[in-house]
Amino acid sequence: MNVLILGSGGREHALAWKFSQSPLLNQLFIAPGNAGTSSLGTNIPLSVNDFEGIKSTVLKKEIDLVVVGPEEPLVNGIYDFFKLDALIRHIPVVGPSKLGAQLEGSKDFAKAFMKRNGIPTAASRTFTSAEIQAGKAFLSALRPPYVLKADGLAAGKGVIICNSLVEAEAELDDMLINSRFGKASEKVVIEEFLNGIELSVFVITDGNTWKLLPEAKDYKRIGNGDTGPNTGGMGAVSPVPFADEAFMQKVVDRVINPTINGLKIEGIDYKGFVFFGLIKVNGDPFVIEYNVRLGDPETETIIPRIKTDLLEVLTSLNNGTLRNHTIETDNRHALTVMLVSAGYPGDYPKGLEITSLNKVADSLVFHAGTTSDQSGEGVVTSGGRVIAITSLGASITEARDLSYKAAAKVDYLGKTYRTDIGLDVVN
Ligand code: AMP
Ligand code: GLY
Repeated sequence: MNVLILGSGGREHALAWKFSQSPLLNQLFIAPGNAGTSSLGTNIPLSVNDFEGIKSTVLKKEIDLVVVGPEEPLVNGIYDFFKLDALIRHIPVVGPSKLGAQLEGSKDFAKAFMKRNGIPTAASRTFTSAEIQAGKAFLSALRPPYVLKADGLAAGKGVIICNSLVEAEAELDDMLINSRFGKASEKVVIEEFLNGIELSVFVITDGNTWKLLPEAKDYKRIGNGDTGPNTGGMGAVSPVPFADEAFMQKVVDRVINPTINGLKIEGIDYKGFVFFGLIKVNGDPFVIEYNVRLGDPETETIIPRIKTDLLEVLTSLNNGTLRNHTIETDNRHALTVMLVSAGYPGDYPKGLEITSLNKVADSLVFHAGTTSDQSGEGVVTSGGRVIAITSLGASITEARDLSYKAAAKVDYLGKTYRTDIGLDVVN
């Protein structure tokens, strides 16, 4: 089969790497892809939001399956775009319908869905600019810290946590009145702060049944010891030691089953990945957020632990056979270290030559923000997150040592990375 992956990050390189190992794969295309994906398939210079361009590519290249990496095209309705077009409606898109994608595209929608379906989450209320006084009254009834969330997509920056009421009120004004996040902050969700430890749980679903993928713990802050600004993710580890059997059973009973049942009951078409951003509070799971896609860098960490042919599983989403599949996992530990550009998550330079990628032998190198140089021979930086290095080991420590050995070898000007990935969960 011919497959098109949409996206250009480490997640998409990891998916391309996995699909390349499938006997089902004929030709692989990635739009727009990066220097890493170009060694596994054909990159197509197309924006993930250019639906007409994607349609003509799908027809021209006789694509049999479209796998959507990032959330934006899903929230913009790529699934519905395919379903509503007679020429391409038979081509399966891995990802939810536009309505299903609201689980990530609108925090207010997600909170209301969780409340309707009895899914544990922080107590919250949503406010518009007309309700700003009520919002402030709600804030003053909460205990610090205060959590404010822009309703819509805000490139991962829409969650603000404030320690004082004065600061929280000012943030609320900024979001609702000064449109700090544009349309995304026309509504703001204010919620109770939950104190616990976070993890990412993933399932693949056909909207009816679901299969659990390996879980991961992501390291979001730029600096060691979880300090400094939030990033897309600086590394990840899988499995997560504190996600023990008793906890995961609670996740299944209280979170996953009610979510998939909720989709079914509410008639929401959903054939793709669900990413549960969870927090463990006194042994119990609460949903911090839903994402309607795989995580990045979690994908680079969990994909190497999946032994099953993922492409085969994805083809089952449209013919009711998902229930017949088993996801087999490698018991080893995987640890990913993300190499980023100097200055990230603020401004950073691009176009810097990356060397010594071929010196890494015992780890997997997934490209995130890279592109080929003008000669087509070399690789240069093109994003904030540049290279994800994943290693498998019999212990977290073994995987960690391998990843850090490889991280030291790869080189470009301003190479930056956290040196404490996985240290907090070493057993
Ligand atoms: P998000 O952009 O939704 O992933 O949120 C960013 C981060 O904010 C999360 O990863 C959590 O660390 C934090 N966060 C969000 N909601 C809460 C909450 N209710 N209590 C504590 N921390 C939260
Ligand atoms: N690593 C978190 C995310 O993909 O949203």
